[in-house]
Amino acid sequence: MAASTDQLFAQDRAHFMHPSTHAADHASGTLPGKIIRTAQGMHIEDHEGRRYLDAFAGLYCVNIGYGRTEVADAIHKQATSLAYYHTYVGHSTDAIIELSKRIIDWSPAGMKKVYYGLSGSDANETQIKIVWYYNNVLGRPQKKKIISRERGYHGSGIVTGSLTGLPSFHQHFDLPVERVHHTVCPHWYRKAPQGMSEQAFVAHCVEELEKLIAREGADTIAAFIGEPVMGTGGIITPPAGYWNAIQAVLRRHDILLIADEVVCGFGRLGSPMGSQHYGMTPDLITIAKGLTSAYAPLSGVIVGERVWDVIERGAREHGPMGHGWTYSGHPICAAAALANLDILARENLTQNAADVGRYFGEKLHAAFDAHPLVGEVRNVGMLAAVEFMADGAARQPFDAAMKIGPRVSAAALARGMIARAMPHGDILGFAPPLIATRADVDEMVSIARAAVDDVAEQVLR
Ligand SMILES: Cc1ncc(COP(=O)(O)O)c(C=O)c1O
Repeated sequence: MAASTDQLFAQDRAHFMHPSTHAADHASGTLPGKIIRTAQGMHIEDHEGRRYLDAFAGLYCVNIGYGRTEVADAIHKQATSLAYYHTYVGHSTDAIIELSKRIIDWSPAGMKKVYYGLSGSDANETQIKIVWYYNNVLGRPQKKKIISRERGYHGSGIVTGSLTGLPSFHQHFDLPVERVHHTVCPHWYRKAPQGMSEQAFVAHCVEELEKLIAREGADTIAAFIGEPVMGTGGIITPPAGYWNAIQAVLRRHDILLIADEVVCGFGRLGSPMGSQHYGMTPDLITIAKGLTSAYAPLSGVIVGERVWDVIERGAREHGPMGHGWTYSGHPICAAAALANLDILARENLTQNAADVGRYFGEKLHAAFDAHPLVGEVRNVGMLAAVEFMADGAARQPFDAAMKIGPRVSAAALARGMIARAMPHGDILGFAPPLIATRADVDEMVSIARAAVDDVAEQVLR
């Protein structure tokens, strides 16, 4: 007999260690969990038959929506013909060869090769090893430090958790590691002093970066890593001109640029990747999530020509690079990625993200710009955020203990929609599947507005 929902919850609490979860509240049952049973299109359904509109595409990843049988079929076909073979010492498979070419075609100019992993974290870990290797081959062993940004998110490993600029990923883990430094978060609304224009704020970000480089010494700094649009740090769109200005500094000091496209890549911003959207010319790119729409775990490091040339030189001088995972280039994951990219292209989902995303922004601004709880509405493509402030004009946040963001998210959930309370700040985040229609947007914004009104009524009473 199948286990009852209560039995499943009991087993879950007894044996499953969840990521990013309050361990004690989960074990005691105080934390209300959810057991998801099935999903289709924009909706997931839990074990008790409750259906939710998933306005966050899982974790910004199920870009083609749930239940796409084409991807399931491709996985099945690959698993029955060749479930696995490794890719060490030049071994390859049809699927990974085809995928690598497709990824380079998606990427900005100047990209050369793809190395594969299984998660955004392991891909960024590879990035840092490549950057260190690069400078060792070039005879610059002191040029190893990495600049990341406050509120950036790059994973939760030892180095990648260090790159992540969120205190909860450092505290109690003895992180960040020594070679990682953080510069300012480019959030004009929260970080610029009152009255400072966006343009002046970009100059301020540049000045802070220059100061950090001067303090540490340019000859000790290897790379700068950044998400084109910050995701987990609060869905923060960069101020106009930010990336051009930052890139000019990096070029001047011979510092490599790593674009972490784990969220922005594969159409989410309404461009093939975030790099093209913002005119970035990275040396290295990290991809994951949207590469397979999470139908199978797959990540990648896209290596640009400049770095690749040095990797080849390194091999000639030192032999093969001692870096690899058993599952690098797993054929089942590659088959899932190919089927996913077919759907993205066939259904024109990048363009849909641009068009419906623009409409989403308009609707959010109309619903929230004048709302007493709201300080800022941000949007680009299928990424959006509503930030709640006690006094929006004075940019004064709510007391964190009031938990406004989580309360709004809970109110939205009660009304049948998943929108994420971003972990740092009172921010409601949206990252819907790229298949979202205008009707879906109308529903998301209407539920969000009702949820914010629910909380406003409690707060303002
Ligand atoms: C920009 C970015 N980089 C890296 C990661 C880490 O990816 P993963 O959770 O697959 O390790 C994430 C995850 O959300 C991310 O958003």
